[in-house]
Amino acid sequence: MNRAEPPRSPGLLHPRPSAPPLTQLPAWQALVDHHRMMGSRHLRQFFADDPQRGERLQVEAAGLYFDFSKNRVTDETLALLVDLAEHCGLRERRDAMFRGDPINATEKRAVLHTALRAPADERIVVDGVNVVPEVHAVLDRMADFAERIRSGEWRGHTGKPIRNVINIGIGGSDLGPVMDCEALHPYSKIGLHLGFVSNIDPSDLVEATRGLDAAETLFIICSKSFRTFDTLTNAHAARAWSLAQLGDERAIASHFVAVSTNAEAVAAFGIDAAHMFALWDWVGGRYSMDSAIGLISMVAVGPEHFRAMLSGFRAMDEHFHRTPLARNMPVLLGLLAIWNNNFLGAETLAVLPYDHYLKRFPAYLQQLTMESNGKHVTATGQAVSTSTSPIVWGEPGTNGQHSFFQLLHQGTRLVACDFIGFSHSQNPQAGQHDLLMANLFAQSEALAFGKTAQALMAEGVDEAQVAQRVCEGNRPSNTLLAERLTPYTLGALVALYEHSVFTQGVIWNIDSFDQWGVELGKVLAQRIVTELADNSHGPLTHDSSTNTLMRRYQRQRKE
Ligand code: F6P
Repeated sequence: MNRAEPPRSPGLLHPRPSAPPLTQLPAWQALVDHHRMMGSRHLRQFFADDPQRGERLQVEAAGLYFDFSKNRVTDETLALLVDLAEHCGLRERRDAMFRGDPINATEKRAVLHTALRAPADERIVVDGVNVVPEVHAVLDRMADFAERIRSGEWRGHTGKPIRNVINIGIGGSDLGPVMDCEALHPYSKIGLHLGFVSNIDPSDLVEATRGLDAAETLFIICSKSFRTFDTLTNAHAARAWSLAQLGDERAIASHFVAVSTNAEAVAAFGIDAAHMFALWDWVGGRYSMDSAIGLISMVAVGPEHFRAMLSGFRAMDEHFHRTPLARNMPVLLGLLAIWNNNFLGAETLAVLPYDHYLKRFPAYLQQLTMESNGKHVTATGQAVSTSTSPIVWGEPGTNGQHSFFQLLHQGTRLVACDFIGFSHSQNPQAGQHDLLMANLFAQSEALAFGKTAQALMAEGVDEAQVAQRVCEGNRPSNTLLAERLTPYTLGALVALYEHSVFTQGVIWNIDSFDQWGVELGKVLAQRIVTELADNSHGPLTHDSSTNTLMRRYQRQRKE
């Protein structure tokens, strides 16, 4: 960003070009030695040694309070992790991202989701063009459209106001909007029905449109590329559904709008340029919920709340950009993830929101984290020397407690956990929020401290059952606490994870912004769909398993 621009360091615009493997860096080796020295030191000991630990190991930013004291780290661990980040060029890479340098090396693109929430007077230049005015122009058009739908001014083909808005998109063109609309449901316009169709399985669209009046239904076709097979198939099916009820091609104009970078394909689908909302190739799909991809959210919660969400994103961006690494929330979250994953061996991360409105947050983070950092080579093509993205999963509390928490407490695998909670409920009910939050606090406490055999015996537990009842504890977790789940807080929370994922990607020296791995399956599916349609049953040239499955499917399909 063009304020006090730090000097460019060309060697670091691209991931470390000719760096030795990560695990050979002295800063990494220092952590290996430190880990060995720490042995299996228990969280009980960490807290006993430092009674102020819970007050010290925290940072606060953008309305979020981040307690990381229940991690198996000392001040020295943290200092060594920050040192590693310095050696990996995190500050330079971060500044290059904010500046708009093409840090997505394999796709030769800038990575500028941070420009989506930049104030109007900021200058961020990509290929000689300041992109901020374009961003604000699109936001203004979105706001105008959202208000017209919300007020009933926008009429459908038969003159009825729009009561149902259905987003058709997949991946980043679905998960962000769904999560956002769920999270901010209490801010949503009453009487407006929202639907989401992502799966190419026709049941998704059939269920989303069941019983709806096409004259009151508007579809947002959301696809950055406007080439995604799943989305285009569903968009054509939605078009057919609308036309079957409305019986007039001209109806498309008032019932379909698009969000895309691909104006040509949008026009070819039959959507007017005036009804297309743009985004840019420097916005990655999984980083796009605050672009026009979030149009359905803006319609739902209104432009003011949407802008409040952007301010939350922005506040976290500022914190990430300006705060020293050792007190920087996304940096710490990312570095602790590296520690838990690469040093303690936690292969998965459980995301546990204690707020029912965040029930889609784990699914959102799955794409953000795993599509970004599920990589096996560095950005310069060498095999990585350590494991990369953790597997992200989770469910809201307290549901998860009655399902998989048993494994978290007593299973043989170490699972890192992120607890997320709020001091106020969106629906205060006499004391019930305290019950919810008591569970959050209790679970993180139980994971950290467990219950010893001595404590069980002192309670008079039958000796024969002591082994079964022991919880060894020493299981790391983070806790994020905010006042309430507002649009602002949600923006800050998403930006926190975006920058944490970035931090981890920089340490591993991978390109967190491409996704070549998803291409192979797409290409194969295209070939197979042609073969399935060919009823002449010509020879198949797949492996014997795939050939047999396809033949069986073809046979059963006919029966
Ligand atoms: O799954 C691959 C992917 O390219 C994601 O990165 C993206 O979010 C999704 O497909 C949808 O892409 P589009 O918005 O171009 O339809």
